[in-house]
Amino acid sequence: MTAKQKSISGVSFVGSGSAIPAQIITNDQLALRVDTNDDWISTRTGIKQRRVLGPDESFSDLCFQASISALEMAKWGPESLDLVLLATSTPNDLFGSAPKIQAKLGAKNAVAFDLTAACSGFLFALVTAAQFLRNGSMKRVLVLGADQLSSWVDWDDRKSCVLFGDAAGALLMESSEGNSDDLLGFKLRSDGSRGDCLNLFEKRHFQTLVNTNMYQQGGFSPIQMNGQEVYKFAVREVPLILQDLLKSHQIDPESLDWLLLHQANKRILDAVADRLRISHSKVLSNLANYGNTSAATIPLMLDEAVRHGKIVQGDLIASSGFGAGLSWGAALFRWHGPS
Ligand code: UT7
Repeated sequence: MTAKQKSISGVSFVGSGSAIPAQIITNDQLALRVDTNDDWISTRTGIKQRRVLGPDESFSDLCFQASISALEMAKWGPESLDLVLLATSTPNDLFGSAPKIQAKLGAKNAVAFDLTAACSGFLFALVTAAQFLRNGSMKRVLVLGADQLSSWVDWDDRKSCVLFGDAAGALLMESSEGNSDDLLGFKLRSDGSRGDCLNLFEKRHFQTLVNTNMYQQGGFSPIQMNGQEVYKFAVREVPLILQDLLKSHQIDPESLDWLLLHQANKRILDAVADRLRISHSKVLSNLANYGNTSAATIPLMLDEAVRHGKIVQGDLIASSGFGAGLSWGAALFRWHGPS
């Protein structure tokens, strides 16, 4: 990529894709491992099953498949991409997974890098990518949200393991001609002082390097979560940031076509909709089938809704991601779809 600043452009959302692992783990199956049951999980979370990557698939495969299906929808060749931006907290290479996806796709003209903001990652990446399109330095970008939290969940902790699953979602964005801009607005927030309630911390394990000198062996402890604190954070902050965003663009919640939230808990989706006085029929939800797939939930849901003909060209969508960090954000956009 070279910095060739041109005129200010808008953003258009033209294609989506997603991919899920083949292996399904139902609530009843989880109850074989931890002291839980389908009734508790369904009632408290809305989740019925989740997908978990098995030995015959990989994180990169999911990202690749999601990207390919988005490129096919938009009828774009991979060489037309300027950027491959992967939002993930679970790369299969800590130096970055995006370049491997770029290479596998044959997106030889694209710069590729990872961005980490947990479950808010996809929304943060969408907004980051939009800056390159708006300032004229890029024309076509692929934004991925993908996570393999199954590798980092403590599968013996019933308070957290029932929530998570694996998936990848992709979105294609293009700089738009003239004055049109389908990204109407966004707001992003972080509060690291509250980060302890959801974390995937380094494991502090020191080994002898030479003589009395030590080094810290790399590694991470499984996910630790204070569910109630995260729940309270979500039902307080998500309505506030969405209200703020809608107000600053003088948009009445009733005029939204869809509410596209990070899929963490059905009760959170309902509470946010109620707070905003948005009909539950406008709340997109698929977490019964996949659980919380972290950075993948929003693009996975978007892609499903587009492919099922729910989201159509011109629909006005308010989206919000939230999670570890703590981090949260909201974006207001219109779906364009392929030309
Ligand atoms: O991307 C962000 C990721 N995180 C989240 O979104 C998490 C947000 N938080 C939540 O979704 C909810 O707090 C949970 C679903 C995690 C938990 O629901 P809750 O209604 O807050 O339950 P709780 O933690 O208050 O636990 C209630 C009871 C406890 O038993 P006692 O102490 O009342 O006897 C738990 O031990 O439910 C018990 N419990 C379970 N029982 C059966 C907790 N997990 C389970 C389980 N199966 N899996």
